[in-house]
Amino acid sequence: MNRKTLVVSMLLSTAMLAASSTAFSDDDEGGFFSRWFGERKHEVGVAPVENPQYLEECGGCHFPYQPGLLPARSWTKMMGGLEEHFGENAELPLDDARAIEEYLVKNAADNSSYKRSRKIMKYMRPGETPLRISETAYFIKEHDELSRRMVEENPQVESFSRCGSCHTQAMKGSFEEHEINIPGFGQWEDD
Ligand code: HEC
Ligand code: HEC
Repeated sequence: MNRKTLVVSMLLSTAMLAASSTAFSDDDEGGFFSRWFGERKHEVGVAPVENPQYLEECGGCHFPYQPGLLPARSWTKMMGGLEEHFGENAELPLDDARAIEEYLVKNAADNSSYKRSRKIMKYMRPGETPLRISETAYFIKEHDELSRRMVEENPQVESFSRCGSCHTQAMKGSFEEHEINIPGFGQWEDD
C-alpha cells in the first residue's frame, strides 16, 4: 500500500465509523451522512406549494398545507369527503376536485424525498390514514413541549392547525427551529 492509498483508506474507515454511529439515530439533524452526502440543502423542509389552483381552493379558509405533510391515502380519503370537511362544507366542482387530488397524491409525503415528509412517514404506522397533520405521531412528538397557554388559550393562535402563526417560513415549506415565533411568547428557544 503506498502512502496515498493508506491515507485514503484511513479517511474512509473514519468516515464509515462516524456514519455508522449516526446513520440510525432517531433524529438525523446533524447526521454525518445527511450533512456530507445525503440531503440537498433545499430538501430540508417540505416541498413548497406552487399550484395556483390548490392555493386558491384549499388556502382560502386556512393555511395551504403542503401535500408533503400527509401520505397519499390521507389526501384521497379527504378529497372523497369534502362535503363534510371538519364541520364545514368544502365541496368543489368535480373537475377541480380531481385536479387537486392528483396534485396532492403526486406530491404526498410518501412520494417525496424532502426531510420532513420522510420523517412524517417514518413515525406513521403502516396503513394509518390520518386526516389531520396535527394528529400524526411526528407532529405530536415535535410539539409536546408547548403549553395550552401558547396554543389553544392563545387568542393569536387558537389551534395547532394554524402552522403559519408560529412558523414564520411555513409558506416556503420551512419549519426550522430558529424561524419559530409564537405570538405573545416570542422566538422559540429550545435548550
Ligand atoms: C370552507 C372552509 C374550508 C375549505 C374551503 C377547506 N378547508 Fe380544510 N379545514 C377547514 C376547517 C374548519 C378545518 C379544521 C381547522 C381547525 O381544527 O382549526 C380544516 C382542516 C384541514 C386539515 C387538517 C389540519 C390539521 O389540523 O392538521 C387539512 C389537511 C385540510 N383542512 C385540507 C384542506 C384541503 C386539501 C382543502 C381543499 C380541497 C381544504 N382543506 C379546504 C375548512 C376548510
Ligand atoms: C403554537 C405554535 C405552533 C404551531 C401552531 C405549529 N407549530 Fe410546529 N413547532 C412549534 C415549535 C415551538 C416547535 C419546536 C419544538 C422543538 O423542537 O423544540 C415546532 C416544531 C415543528 C417541526 C419540527 C421542526 C424541527 O426543527 O425539528 C415541524 C416539522 C413543525 N413544527 C410543523 C408544523 C406544522 C406543519 C404545523 C401546522 C399543522 C405546525 N407546526 C404548527 C410551534 C408551532
